[in-house]
Amino acid sequence: MSQAVTIELGGGGDHDVRALRNAFGCFTTGVTVVTTCAADGRRVGLTANSFTSVSLDPPLALVCVDLKSSSLPMLDAAGLFTVNVLHADHQALARQFTRKEGDRFEGVETETWSTGAPVLPGCMANFECVTHQVFDAGDHRVYVGRVVKLRYDPDHEPLVYLQGRFRRVHVED
Ligand SMILES: Cc1cc2nc3c(=O)[nH]c(=O)nc-3n(C[C@H](O)[C@H](O)[C@H](O)COP(=O)(O)O)c2cc1C
Repeated sequence: MSQAVTIELGGGGDHDVRALRNAFGCFTTGVTVVTTCAADGRRVGLTANSFTSVSLDPPLALVCVDLKSSSLPMLDAAGLFTVNVLHADHQALARQFTRKEGDRFEGVETETWSTGAPVLPGCMANFECVTHQVFDAGDHRVYVGRVVKLRYDPDHEPLVYLQGRFRRVHVED
């Protein structure tokens, strides 16, 4: 039997938020680590599944970051970021980049390309971006980046996020 839930938003409060989370969670995404660097050279990064391609010409992509994120000031000040698209064996890395304590880059090798934002090797794809547009939308800040350099390796299987859980895709040959 169908377990579909229909809800009109507007009542506010936890009920709406839970329903929204559950409904948004039905949209399957990949998982990325968004990185930038602080003025003192410290590497900054957070796990994000809000990455979306925006435009081919010019080459634009976006990521949405919680206004409460500790990475926000560094993303704003740097004016650049790199989106590192994780593969199926990167689950631990995805969790590491949500750590509240300690160094998220512990044991993580990084490369430096043109902008200086850390690039994680061995990913499915990396998009080095210069911030093109920033605007607040509700409780998130949207960073639209112009892609200045990229790398991709489609031979990997992607790390997938659906209904609050990491998953693998089953690819039929
Ligand atoms: C799969 C997954 C996807 C996430 N996507 C986002 C996202 O798109 N934007 C965001 O702000 N936080 C996202 N988060 C939460 C952040 O990674 C997490 O809150 C992190 O601790 C933020 O760190 P910061 O406050 O140092 O920036 C996601 C977490 C997970 C596990």
